[in-house]
Amino acid sequence: MSKGLFITKPVQAAPHVDAGEPVEGSLQGEATLKRTLTARQLTMLGIGAVIGAGIFVLTGHAAAEHAGPAIVLSFVLAGIACGLAGLCYAEFASMLPVSGSAYSYAYATLGEFVAWFIGWNLVLEYLFAASTVAVGWSGYFNSLLTSLGIGLPASLSTAPLNVVDGSIVYTGGLFNLPAVAIVAAISWLCYVGITQSAFVNSIIVAIKVVVILLFVAFSLQFVNPDNWVPFVPENQGPGRYGFDGIVRGAAVVFFAYIGFDAVSTAAGEAKNPQRDMPIGILGSLLICTIIYIIVSAVLTGLLPYTQLGTPKPVATALEAYPSLLWLKHVVEIGAIAGLSSVILVMLMGQPRIFYAMAQDGLLPAIFKRVHPKHQTPHVGTVIVGVVACLLAGFLPIGLLGELVSMGTLLAFATVSAGVLVLRRTQPSLPRPFRVPLATAVCPLGVVACLYLFWQPFREHWPLMVGWTIVGFVIYFGYGYRHSKLRNGA
Ligand code: ALA
Repeated sequence: MSKGLFITKPVQAAPHVDAGEPVEGSLQGEATLKRTLTARQLTMLGIGAVIGAGIFVLTGHAAAEHAGPAIVLSFVLAGIACGLAGLCYAEFASMLPVSGSAYSYAYATLGEFVAWFIGWNLVLEYLFAASTVAVGWSGYFNSLLTSLGIGLPASLSTAPLNVVDGSIVYTGGLFNLPAVAIVAAISWLCYVGITQSAFVNSIIVAIKVVVILLFVAFSLQFVNPDNWVPFVPENQGPGRYGFDGIVRGAAVVFFAYIGFDAVSTAAGEAKNPQRDMPIGILGSLLICTIIYIIVSAVLTGLLPYTQLGTPKPVATALEAYPSLLWLKHVVEIGAIAGLSSVILVMLMGQPRIFYAMAQDGLLPAIFKRVHPKHQTPHVGTVIVGVVACLLAGFLPIGLLGELVSMGTLLAFATVSAGVLVLRRTQPSLPRPFRVPLATAVCPLGVVACLYLFWQPFREHWPLMVGWTIVGFVIYFGYGYRHSKLRNGA
């Protein structure tokens, strides 16, 4: 049984592919995903998935509660962990240009059981992140409507259930209408095509990057260097300031980096994945890291860090300067745009991971159906969209925010380990991109990601363990019995 559990999927060198050519095997006549995405579109997808709630919502809390002005160092630390993992993703995605991302890489290196475990954790990263960010989107959207005098009543912008002090309470709300509406609209976009989705994403990304540049350009003159002193406030207990606070802050703002890896789920639809995957993954990560470091430095320079612990830290900082009030509404629009593209790329990524899992028989065949005209995994897209609507509209999804980061960190650690494993098991496989100094970079990537994983795990381990058990029940109930690889198909 254990041999079966850890069976690995053979990897073959991917032939050079051009636009329109599928890499993944398909039955004759069966629709496949379409290869249309360019390096620029892939980089935009990465930026689209990355810049969102992390910078617009979480930065203030992380600075106020954990790191103080040294939140800049938290961003550097999380950026280093992601950079190490990003290099590993780039090697895999250029070598195995398929849709399954970390799931497919784990299947090729660490075996089916680990692959399932990682695929199940990617549900946390993609599906739950999309729902979590949709709730944040609803908050920003309703606040913009309210400032225009047409805000929705609380009953239509609040989920009926919430968790207070560990117990579930009824909030009086019916459902979160804006959150459901944005998920439904974006799911429709994902249904009709990858080209349309990438086009809309590129427009949204341009808006949010311009808004961030405007924020930095106009508020720089108000930055008061006194607000950066002390840069590392004295430690006041576990995770509160000092070095421990910087690390805890890094675990919180890690959420801000999630998404660059989503570029790899589009590998099956990239025109020239061997060349463009590393550009898309590492390019978007680099651009976002620079943006985060600058924005967090400006933010903590505008206001003392103790005053930044609000759900809208950027708007809060601007409110302190009457001449910058106009910028506050611009930032709100940028945040709405930013969160929309995160939801878009996450909702695009999840059905593609399910598609890869269904191709391997670990999920029902319905997830691998591709629309004959749109060439998208349409049934999976609808299922993911409906579940994301239900989560965002009715449940206290905010509770699961840190689970999203934990699931992602496990995937990053696995991918980092996988690169080394495949270098040993298949050293001669052509690698269009190679992680430099892999024997140092990969183990460092594993350690950095597991270290960040450990920070929230100390607090949220029952949720994480519960999630894992549910995953294993599904695997042994379905995937184990239907696995194509173990059944010799
Ligand atoms: N990185 C994404 C965000 O910050 C998930 O919203």
